[in-house]
Amino acid sequence: MSWVLFFSITFITKVHTIDLYSPWIISAGPTFNAYKYNVLQHLTSISPYFESISDGLNPDPPQGCKVNKAVYLVRHGSIYVNDNDYFLTIEPFLQRLKNSSYYVDFSNSTELAFLTHWTSYILNSKEQIEKLAKLGFVESFNFGARLAHRYPHLLPVKKDASFKVWGSSANRTLRSAEALFAGLYAGHETIGNVVSILEGRDQGANTLTPRRTCPIFNTSHAFKLSDEWLKYYTVPIIARLTAKGSGFQFTPKDVLAMQELCGYETIIRGSSAFCEIFTSEEWLSFEYYEDIKYYYELGYGNTKSVSLGMPWVVATGNLLNQTDVNDQHLYISIVHRQMPPFVVTALGLYNDSEYTSPTNINHTLPLNEINNRRAWKTSRFLTFMGNIALERLDCASAAYTGSFVRVLVNSAPEPLPGCRSGPSFSCPLKQYMDYVKRRSDSYEAFTKACGLENRNAAETLSFFVNEKVV
Ligand SMILES: *[C@@H]1O[C@H](CO)[C@@H](O)[C@H](O)[C@H]1NC(C)=O
Ligand SMILES: *[C@@H]1O[C@H](CO)[C@@H](O)[C@H](O)[C@H]1NC(C)=O
Ligand SMILES: *[C@@H]1O[C@H](CO)[C@@H](O)[C@H](O)[C@H]1NC(C)=O
Ligand SMILES: *[C@@H]1O[C@H](CO)[C@@H](O)[C@H](O)[C@H]1NC(C)=O
Ligand SMILES: *[C@@H]1O[C@H](CO)[C@@H](O)[C@H](O)[C@H]1NC(C)=O
Ligand SMILES: *[C@@H]1O[C@H](CO)[C@@H](O)[C@H](O)[C@H]1NC(C)=O
Ligand SMILES: *[C@@H]1O[C@H](CO)[C@@H](O)[C@H](O)[C@H]1NC(C)=O
Repeated sequence: MSWVLFFSITFITKVHTIDLYSPWIISAGPTFNAYKYNVLQHLTSISPYFESISDGLNPDPPQGCKVNKAVYLVRHGSIYVNDNDYFLTIEPFLQRLKNSSYYVDFSNSTELAFLTHWTSYILNSKEQIEKLAKLGFVESFNFGARLAHRYPHLLPVKKDASFKVWGSSANRTLRSAEALFAGLYAGHETIGNVVSILEGRDQGANTLTPRRTCPIFNTSHAFKLSDEWLKYYTVPIIARLTAKGSGFQFTPKDVLAMQELCGYETIIRGSSAFCEIFTSEEWLSFEYYEDIKYYYELGYGNTKSVSLGMPWVVATGNLLNQTDVNDQHLYISIVHRQMPPFVVTALGLYNDSEYTSPTNINHTLPLNEINNRRAWKTSRFLTFMGNIALERLDCASAAYTGSFVRVLVNSAPEPLPGCRSGPSFSCPLKQYMDYVKRRSDSYEAFTKACGLENRNAAETLSFFVNEKVV
């Protein structure tokens, strides 16, 4: 078995297979050669996984501390394409491209000439849309193997242990969970199993898809606001792309489609000519578009976000606070893209109002100019495989003794506002529990926020400790 593996690896290195992550990097000329810009790290929810750059904080456990428990919220790995992105943006663009092919001529345009021969990588929409890509499988397996490397002491050793990984029940989340689970054991025999958490509408708060179980959750204003920015930032792009006289009438949505295709096509084919069309400021504008959308849909700009993220935060806080009741020490939930923004907001991370004026909402994310200094950058936590980790540190050093909670986002430590007196700016466990309780008490409970009171809906997320309600 291991011989077969050995030979296949040797073989692969010899034939130079494509680099799955081949990054599209914009760099400056010789006078500013420190400048490098990786487009694939600014595509927010369409970025293949990358580790965030921390603000200098070391992600290793602080000196004298041991991680005795860890909880991970992980988005599934890279997919072929998201259904909304495809049906609302990409497919209409491809249709228009096809319909206009008999009179449009891109051959005089340096950036767009490739479109003369380009064909879509979506060949079988039924098998591809919303499905985990091969890269997504690789990312998931790798992530599992890296967790095993980081936390060897948190994995079960006894063959009969009831170790679990929880995944939302959709195909892409479960397949991702299965690949991650296999990665935890580096391809050896696994201990435990993947538990599927139903995405049904009746799960109440006991779910990994609270958006679906919250009937009055309304996001229409998010798209209105992000569309306003889209119309604004695409004006000079459309002027540039039409200047060569191809005859194609670009709309703002077409620009969005091409920017989305850069990410998705790279995931499938290893590279994409769409990535080369735009300048770094045009990519930053796309990133800002996504940030506006997610801010008002799933983050601080939606009054329900905290209530929808809080059941997971409360349940995992309790797991971190307990030491002996459960035999499991590593808890992993594989989720969809809505969950990380809810949890980030429930935890109070990346709140731009924290250090600026909360009175003028336009001050946070104006729609007529980019806020380059914003804290809310979804490329930090909403990539494929985007993850939020809560580590319980048990420390015994000259400076710190006791238990602490540290948050890591895409492996970068993220100190909590007002609670960072521990090692590596972590939060003392007792204060963390108070912090969560205070935040939980300040916002409507899930059932109230969702109009589910007196409807017999689950009020808490209990599947980590109580399997039978699932
Ligand atoms: C493209 O052409 C087809 C058939 O002529 C038509 O049904 C469709 O609406 C057109 N789509 C667009 C986006 O123009
Ligand atoms: C492309 O450029 C050539 C030379 O400038 C010109 O003759 C031709 O009409 C242009 N084609 C289009 C489609 O603009
Ligand atoms: C996902 O779908 C594929 C077919 O499209 C199927 O073979 C596979 O078993 C499914 N996986 C899960 C975990 O549901
Ligand atoms: C969502 O809110 C908008 C106004 O903000 C309203 O027009 C719309 O009817 C609401 N949709 C639902 C499903 O409640
Ligand atoms: C955390 O655990 C401690 C010790 O077991 C317990 O006294 C405390 O009540 C727990 N805190 C919460 C919020 O559950
Ligand atoms: C964000 O920060 C502002 C200013 O401190 C605060 O008023 C607001 O409650 C915070 N929002 C959340 C969801 O924590
Ligand atoms: C915020 O921006 C919108 C759109 O540009 C504008 O209509 C609104 O008046 C602004 N609000 C404030 C408080 O400045």
